[in-house]
Amino acid sequence: MRKTVIAGNWKMNMTPAKTAEFIKALAPMVAGKDKCDVVLCVPAIDIPAAVEAAKGTNIKIGAENVHFKASGAFTGEISAEMLTEAGVEYVVIGHSERRQYFAETDQTVNLRTLAALNAGLKAIVCVGETLEQRELGYTETLLKFQTKMALTNVSAEQLKNVIVAYEPVWAIGTGVTATADQADEGNGFVRAAIAEVYGADVAETVTVQYGGSMNDKNAAELLAKENVDGGLIGGASLVAEKFKAIVDAAQ
Ligand code: PGA
Repeated sequence: MRKTVIAGNWKMNMTPAKTAEFIKALAPMVAGKDKCDVVLCVPAIDIPAAVEAAKGTNIKIGAENVHFKASGAFTGEISAEMLTEAGVEYVVIGHSERRQYFAETDQTVNLRTLAALNAGLKAIVCVGETLEQRELGYTETLLKFQTKMALTNVSAEQLKNVIVAYEPVWAIGTGVTATADQADEGNGFVRAAIAEVYGADVAETVTVQYGGSMNDKNAAELLAKENVDGGLIGGASLVAEKFKAIVDAAQ
């Protein structure tokens, strides 16, 4: 059985004060919803407030990025050890916004993934095609390539701490959701890539999320699909009622 994981990705939203307020409001709404893991990935500056507010609840805290070196002259960066010491359990890696605006490459995604796993973090690795790549017919090729690149040198044992999020770039923040069938197909390509490297039995155990305009209205249909084991949720994770409804859909 694969674990369903519903994770919010706040992006550059919420201050520390708002973080504490939000989590205190959300916690009773998702309490006891044990059919999925509930995660909020928050800006680095919000992490202490988030960890504190989430104490004693079933909400787990994630970061939105991690550097691949353990320490050193990397101004503005945050290491995996800094995150774990702060109480972070998950980290988003290779989000399309980082690939698009911050020169993230498949290679750095891989290095960050290894750094996160070696520090004991759970990595939420994002892959996804642009609209142009989809229209050219490269969705499967691209998803398999990105997945395999991200997981280079990740052992089968370490893979237990990897979640892959299929996020079609054209569906992120646009209000255009992939159809449930498109999400299932994309997630299936990711799983097939994992199977090609680690074998089908291992691939069956890996949580593959869908992300891209998932919300309180479409979550149930998306999550009902065979290959969709959860969601990575941007906009709708900023509204407690909507995020709660997605957690409910996963029950
Ligand atoms: P969205 O973002 O739900 O706002 O489309 C998803 C994501 O970028 O993870």
